[in-house]
Amino acid sequence: MDTTLHRSPLFHPAGPRRPTGLVGDTTWMLELNGCRYPWADRLYRTMRDFYWKPDDVSLVADHAQFPKLAPVEQETYLRTLGFLIYLDSIQSVNPAWLSQYVAAPEVAACLITQAFFETIHSQSYDYLLTSVVDAATRERVYTLWRDDPVLAARLATLVDPYEAFHQNPTLDRFATLCFADLLLEGVYFWSGFSVFLTLAARQQMTGTAQLIRQIRRDEQQHLGLYTQILRTLREEVPELFTPALEASWRALAEDAAAHEIAWMETITGGQFPGLPPDRVADYIRWCTNQRCEAVDLAAPFPAVVRDPMPWLERQGEMNTGKADFFEAAVVNYQDDLDFSDL
Ligand SMILES: [Fe+2]
Ligand SMILES: [Fe+2]
Repeated sequence: MDTTLHRSPLFHPAGPRRPTGLVGDTTWMLELNGCRYPWADRLYRTMRDFYWKPDDVSLVADHAQFPKLAPVEQETYLRTLGFLIYLDSIQSVNPAWLSQYVAAPEVAACLITQAFFETIHSQSYDYLLTSVVDAATRERVYTLWRDDPVLAARLATLVDPYEAFHQNPTLDRFATLCFADLLLEGVYFWSGFSVFLTLAARQQMTGTAQLIRQIRRDEQQHLGLYTQILRTLREEVPELFTPALEASWRALAEDAAAHEIAWMETITGGQFPGLPPDRVADYIRWCTNQRCEAVDLAAPFPAVVRDPMPWLERQGEMNTGKADFFEAAVVNYQDDLDFSDL
């Protein structure tokens, strides 16, 4: 199936009173009350309620602590940031492009809000590096995306689904891009967060971890957004989800996991305390399974049936009393980390 998507005219009096689907003809009128997709209205409000400012978090202790970290911890911290900086930078622009082809303005509002929060994440990394390391190191981290050969090679192909959609905006490429976003947000970021949350579990770089928890909570909303978009498309355009498309997504997911596993092995060298490579690899496979199953795809790694590092989940949760879009439940974990699992 290969349906080219068209952007509706900005002044479009002949358009439908309300959108007839997630993609298609639209008048662009943003009207949340009585909108077609109430989930998008709820998600938009949840995302907005999570507004935060990076510089509200003190990094004074992190500045003093960073030079005392082991060299492998310092390097893993910086290279992980180099990767996340690139990802959040492209996610600051990509959702706005996608939104131009979405017929439901309430869903487009979620995409635009996502893009805004990705700029806050980018601001966080800027704040982190300015606060924690010297100017030369900061400069090195900001150019890792093209100067680090391993990272540059990876990023050159990671963006393929994005470029493919921008060059030819068909519905199947739109859907594939949304799936790629799920992997970006829910595999690459989750893996990267493990570095900072593992340090924090040992009371190291706790200001950094607080920023990461805020970012992670936003990413959970973004996962909700792309999951809902793909579920909606499956409902509205079932013929799109051919065995060939699903096979290509499975290959994309397997590739994503393989690249992330290789990247983590490269940057930790197997020497990062608390992140042994086999455990990290299974964690990445587990995250990949979760993202696939959320959109009704079979788990690509059926042998991994449980989270091999459940303490990361607890370490990563915010303790604010605010409800999450996914679970609509207040999460208030006590300090119940099981360090025997590290
Ligand atoms: Fe982000
Ligand atoms: Fe995100």
